[in-house]
Amino acid sequence: MTSVDGFTMRPVQAGDRLGYVATLLALTNTGNVTEESFRELLAFWERNRETYHPRVIVDETGEVLAAGMLVVERKLIHGCACSANIEDIAVNKAHQGKKLGKRLIDGLTQLAKELGAYKVVLDCSEANVPFYKKCGYDEKGVCMVVKF
Ligand code: ACO
Repeated sequence: MTSVDGFTMRPVQAGDRLGYVATLLALTNTGNVTEESFRELLAFWERNRETYHPRVIVDETGEVLAAGMLVVERKLIHGCACSANIEDIAVNKAHQGKKLGKRLIDGLTQLAKELGAYKVVLDCSEANVPFYKKCGYDEKGVCMVVKF
């Protein structure tokens, strides 16, 4: 848990459901996340806690303002090394442009380093490239997708 200027970055908790969903709506449609499905999701992440590192930034009142996920993957290559992916980054619309996105990416990147990952990868839209460059990321390769 890291607190600076009244903002705290911490793991997601059961009571975060509404704020977490509201924040992720800045990124995409979340669908219907009931209390039960949220509880099951947190339990799944907790059972797989070496892989999933969901984080939020909250203010002094505990309101969720930003959300993101670090996924750590154990590989065979590079001597069975770990690499990490940053996924599902969002800052609540009303709080964008206040450096919370950068704070979130810096925190997740530092976490990946502390967990021993040799790199962090993410994919994003062209529009977000300048933001990630400000967070220290470089463009490499292209992202491919098949949707089902
Ligand atoms: N284009 C150019 N510069 C940008 C952009 C942009 N789209 N977004 C932020 N920046 C710059 C800021 O101006 C600031 O620059 P400065 O330090 O020189 O003043 C710096 O990047 C840091 O900006 P923040 O204030 O930290 O950005 P914010 O808190 O608004 O978070 C984010 C950026 C996450 C993109 C937010 O706007 C957001 O949630 N957008 C909608 C959802 C989204 O696109 N999420 C990312 C998906 S990619 C993924 O999940 C891996």
